[in-house]
Amino acid sequence: MAALFEPFDLAGTRLNNRIVMAPMTRARAKGDVPDEMGALYYRQRASAGLIISEGSPISREGQGYLFNPGIYGPDQIAGWKKATQAVHERGGVIFCQTWHVGRVSHTSIQQNGAAPISSAAKQGGMAFGYNEDGQPDMMAATTPRAATTEECRRLVNDFAQAALNARNAGFDGVELHGANGYLLEQFINAGLNDRTDEYGGSRENRCRLLLEAIDASIALIGAHRVGVRLTPYGTLFDMPIYDDIEGTYLYLAAELSKRDLAYVHLMDQGAQGQDGLPREFLRRFRDAYHGTLLFAGNLDKAEAHKLVDDGVIDLPVFGRPFTSNPDLVERLQNDWPLAEFDPDTFYGGDARGYVDFPTYEEEQARLAREKMLAEKS
Ligand SMILES: Cc1cc2nc3c(=O)[nH]c(=O)nc-3n(C[C@H](O)[C@H](O)[C@H](O)COP(=O)(O)O)c2cc1C
Repeated sequence: MAALFEPFDLAGTRLNNRIVMAPMTRARAKGDVPDEMGALYYRQRASAGLIISEGSPISREGQGYLFNPGIYGPDQIAGWKKATQAVHERGGVIFCQTWHVGRVSHTSIQQNGAAPISSAAKQGGMAFGYNEDGQPDMMAATTPRAATTEECRRLVNDFAQAALNARNAGFDGVELHGANGYLLEQFINAGLNDRTDEYGGSRENRCRLLLEAIDASIALIGAHRVGVRLTPYGTLFDMPIYDDIEGTYLYLAAELSKRDLAYVHLMDQGAQGQDGLPREFLRRFRDAYHGTLLFAGNLDKAEAHKLVDDGVIDLPVFGRPFTSNPDLVERLQNDWPLAEFDPDTFYGGDARGYVDFPTYEEEQARLAREKMLAEKS
C-alpha cells in the first residue's frame, strides 16, 4: 500500500503526508483582499500535506471574477500573511496559485473599463462582474483583444512579481495556473491562438509564455518553490480540441523535466462535466515527466492509493471533499465517513458552507452531547 499518510519530500520542503488540497476559488474576499475568515478556512484544512490556495489574480487585469483575493497589492500581501501564518502554525505547507484569466473577464472589473487581453481576439467563457444595474452577476466574458508582443513580456514579469509577492506573503511556493481555459492555456491552445509572433504558431511558440513565466518565477524564488497546473484535453471555457494536444503536452513534459520544479499538477476536467483526461495519456505524461506529479479529478482514497501504488502519480489532489471535510486527511486515514459537499455554497456568500463544517471528532462530540441531554430530559 502506498504511504499516503507518510511524509513526502517536495523538492526539499517536507510535507506531513501526500494528501493535497486542490486550488478552489471561494469568492468571499471583500475588496479582493484576503481576510480573517479566509485565514480560518485554510487553518482548518492545514492537516493536508500541501494546500494550494484558491486562484489568486496576479494583477487587476488578470481578474475575471469579483471577490477573489489577489496577490498584487500591498494590502493583499498583508492579508495573505494571516492565512500562511495560520497554516504554518499547524505544521502545514501552502503554495499560492498565481492566476491570470486572460479573456475570461469583463470590462466592468477591468481598469478603466478596458477589454480583457488574450492570445487572440476571440470571445469565450463567463465572467463574474457588475451588470448594467451595478449588481454582481455572471455574464458572458467581453471580447478580448490580442496582447501585443511587448505585453507578453510584461505578463511574464507580472507572473514573476506575483511569485515574489507570494513569498513575501509567507507562501512556501507558487503554482502557476496554466489550466482550465485561462490565459496561459489560451496561448498553449492551437485552436485558439492565431498569433504570428514568437508567441503563436509552433508548439514551442505556443508554450513560450508559460515557460517564460515559469523561468521568470524560478529566477526570483527558486525552482524548488515553483509548480504548474495543466489540463491537457481541457475544454473548459470554450477551449477547442486541436490535433497537436498530445504532442504539445509531451513537449511541455520534456521542457518541464529540465527545470527541477517543485511539481507538475495535472487536472482531469471530467469532474467539471467536461470530457476527461484519458488515463493512457496520464501514463504517457508520467513517463515523459521526470519529477513529482500531482493529479486531481474525482479521486477517492482507493483510486488515490491505486494511482500512487502503480507509480502513475506521486501526490493525489482532492478538491470538493476538502470544502466539507476540513479534516479530510484524518477521515481518509481512519476510514471515517465523509461529509457531503454543498455546491450551492461553493462560490460567494458568507461563513455558511465555508468555515462551519465540523471535523469528524467535533461532530461525534456534538452527537454524544445531544444524546446525553436527550437521555436526561
Ligand atoms: C468550488 C471550486 C473552485 C475551484 N477553483 C479552482 C481554482 O481556483 N483553480 C483551479 O485550478 N481549479 C479550481 N477548481 C478545480 C479543483 O481544483 C479540482 O481540480 C476539481 O474540483 C476536481 O477535483 P475534485 O473532483 O476532487 O473536486 C475548483 C473547483 C471547485 C469545486
